[in-house]
Amino acid sequence: MGLLDGKVAVVTGAGRGIGREEALLLAAEGARVVVNDVGAGLHGESGGDAHPAEEVVALIQTAGGEAAVNGDDISSWAGGKNVVEQAIDTFGSLDILVNNAGILRDKMSFNMDESDWDDVIRVHLKGHFAATHHAAVYWRNRAKSGEDVTGRIINTSSEAGLFGNAGQANYAAAKAGIAALTWVEARELGRYGVTSNAIAPRARTRMTETIFGGDGMSAAEGAFDAWDPKNIANVVAFLAAPASADITGQILVVFGADIYAMSAFKAVGQVTRDKAWTPEELVAAKGDLFKGISSGVPDFSFI
Ligand SMILES: NC(=O)c1ccc[n+]([C@@H]2O[C@H](COP(=O)([O-])OP(=O)(O)OC[C@H]3O[C@@H](n4cnc5c(N)ncnc54)[C@H](O)[C@@H]3O)[C@@H](O)[C@H]2O)c1
Repeated sequence: MGLLDGKVAVVTGAGRGIGREEALLLAAEGARVVVNDVGAGLHGESGGDAHPAEEVVALIQTAGGEAAVNGDDISSWAGGKNVVEQAIDTFGSLDILVNNAGILRDKMSFNMDESDWDDVIRVHLKGHFAATHHAAVYWRNRAKSGEDVTGRIINTSSEAGLFGNAGQANYAAAKAGIAALTWVEARELGRYGVTSNAIAPRARTRMTETIFGGDGMSAAEGAFDAWDPKNIANVVAFLAAPASADITGQILVVFGADIYAMSAFKAVGQVTRDKAWTPEELVAAKGDLFKGISSGVPDFSFI
């Protein structure tokens, strides 16, 4: 008996890294999985990796599970439609959509060119929305025809998007957009039986190995491996489970065994009165508005 017996899942960018472990675990928990991956290089270049999704599907099948390869570019509207339709055509339904695919083009704002901006925003932000749109159409139609829907959307944000990170204007903007998308989806789709949550993971993959050079990302022999992407997959399977029907609009930072439920934006200062403020009056009132607040940049710390 698995936690996800009878469920059908799509995991995007599941040929490598975190998505690979998510696909493997969802399948081990009983889900039939469409393993999407376009085989992109870290920076989004084509031909980076020939058939990573096929390897993941083979692993799932060898372990006795069911899976299918999807090689669509998830950042296209047609790709999002295809992957949703493939799940329904191949396995009869879609219950879980894990939006995970991503690329990196880190540069300071003054060095970034237009294609760095466009490609990262497209792969992450549109890549999260394209499949979600088509899944939402499917779930809403089912709910409206009286069916019991237990849809799950699990998005992949990043601490870069929640806190801001120098050198990642494109990536952080996309990841903050994904957090906002998660709240919108939670508001829109709850009435149709669909939850939407996001993770902001930290794990050892080619993405982080590039940034940190692999330093400090391995565990001593026999010790708990906090950087193992399998840790992230556990949280995704939890959010995908039927028992998580009451969790929606949440953003979880996940690193090893540390899981933080993050709050959304909150007002931390205020000035108010019954007529408009002139700019000059705001200069005089700024001490009250920002009382006790040293910077608008979020504090990169947890509880
Ligand atoms: N590794 C971390 O610590 C970390 C931290 C924060 C956020 N994330 C996020 O987690 C997700 C997974 O990252 P990862 O570290 O496993 O990276 P990764 O590079 O190992 O895997 C990303 C996968 O996405 C695929 N992909 C890229 N563009 C695609 C497209 N258009 N269509 C389909 N597939 C595509 C790639 O081929 C690759 O297999 C990303 O969204 C990333 O931003 C990772």
